[in-house]
Amino acid sequence: TPPDDAVMILLGASGDLTRRKLVPALFQLYRSGLMPGRFAIIGVARRPYDDPSFRERLREGIRERCAPQDEEDRCSEFLEHVEYFRGDLEAPDTYASLRDHLDRGGDRYPSGRLFYFSLKPDLFIEAAHHLREHGLIDSDSAAQAGEGAWRRAVIEKPFGHDLESARALNRALLEGLDEKQIFRIDHYVGKEAVQNVMAFRFANTLFEPVLNRTCVDHIQLTAAEALGVGGGRGGYYDRYGAIRDMLSNHLLQLLALLTMEPPSGLDSDAIHNEKTKVLKALRVDWRGDASPAFCRAQYAAGVMDDGTRAVGYRDEDRVDRDSETESYAAVRLSIDNWRWSGVPVFVRTGKRMKRKLTEVAVHFRHPPLKLFRGVECEGAHCDVRGVQPNKLIFRIQPQEGIFLNMAVKRPTLPFVVEQADMDFSYAGKWGRELPEAYERLLLDALRGDTTLFTRSDEVEAGWSVVEPVLKAMDRTPLYSYPAGSWGPAEADRLFQCSDLPDECLCRKTGLVRA
Ligand code: BG6
Repeated sequence: TPPDDAVMILLGASGDLTRRKLVPALFQLYRSGLMPGRFAIIGVARRPYDDPSFRERLREGIRERCAPQDEEDRCSEFLEHVEYFRGDLEAPDTYASLRDHLDRGGDRYPSGRLFYFSLKPDLFIEAAHHLREHGLIDSDSAAQAGEGAWRRAVIEKPFGHDLESARALNRALLEGLDEKQIFRIDHYVGKEAVQNVMAFRFANTLFEPVLNRTCVDHIQLTAAEALGVGGGRGGYYDRYGAIRDMLSNHLLQLLALLTMEPPSGLDSDAIHNEKTKVLKALRVDWRGDASPAFCRAQYAAGVMDDGTRAVGYRDEDRVDRDSETESYAAVRLSIDNWRWSGVPVFVRTGKRMKRKLTEVAVHFRHPPLKLFRGVECEGAHCDVRGVQPNKLIFRIQPQEGIFLNMAVKRPTLPFVVEQADMDFSYAGKWGRELPEAYERLLLDALRGDTTLFTRSDEVEAGWSVVEPVLKAMDRTPLYSYPAGSWGPAEADRLFQCSDLPDECLCRKTGLVRA
């Protein structure tokens, strides 16, 4: 489907997201010939820019991200479509004058309108209300889509602060728009390697039949970041923390794609239905104090992998000096359905960890027969635990790829078994840069395709999963880990699930693949 002619109205356009992500992604679409035939981009914010200074700011963002020097002309041509509208988005008048401005624009503006909420989260509900009150959005316009007078809203996360606020936000949005007009962005779903989880599962015959409780021992999902909360993000982050910022959305989305049932088709509702269903089956796997289901921690000063020194979390800009916010969280989950019952799912994420790494590892069970007991394994005389069970690893970033780890015989006269990878890497196969998540997502929003966005019930199902953890937060100790490490040692206790079947390797898996 080609993208629809549109005016894109970026609310909160003076922020970092517009400069660093949105506009560079739109420029990439432009240079690939994927922008609509007619489009305008209007940035709305309070800061005192005019069209030329706003364009200059965006040009820098484009240069930093993507534009080679020889494309300056193309960049200028693209920026001709951009203008700045100064206004305070907390003031109702701004919306009235924005509406008049659009009305006066006549033919200059296509009649389809996409409002991008790149605002402070506290303003989402208010902005949705004002847009509706001033006739800038309305649900009936979906019916006029044939005439091109559609209205859409793209909403950046966080979608609420907890279940209750997420419900309030959904209600506010759904007062003015139909579900199909709302595009809640979770940029992880737009990542190439995340989309491949679905292709890998459902475009092949081999793997889907073994992704279940009969064959899988446990699942580990890791999203480690080397970055801290500097660069002006401290204020936001300190109010949210790792569970709300990463786990309630990005990581649960990823997990849903890995564990959902096959959808009946590739249409948006078919996929959202399956994701929501599995999210509703997810529970925090509480097992009493001996084996906690949740560990949280904050980074202390430390030395990063590249040798730079990093300050501790509480010394970051705009972070409370006594902050109790977690920059690391690990949670043990279970999926209470026929496919996955009894398979523990370990999810962890943290800032200022040793290096950036996002991956999902499916650890399979041991083979049923202990045939290789007593055979040399990787140099060590081994029992059944010496031969490692298979692992299927989806490397989401960096070095995107999919790896299947297996035991093979070493080509030596003594019979020795060792581990080897069957690997597929994007770099090896295609050798070029992957499209940015925002490119794909913005293009889909311009086409009106909600498949890669999050539906309201899905958002609420995600919050319902983490709600017990949020409630337990105050009575859960806050541990510490040095910046540049793999997180707190205390998180290992999550892996000690004594009542799991004997073969469960939880204790032995280590944090991440080396
Ligand atoms: C954002 C979070 O949604 O995702 C950030 O708010 C986090 O805290 C970022 O750093 C991670 O995204 P990526 O694409 O760099 O893994």
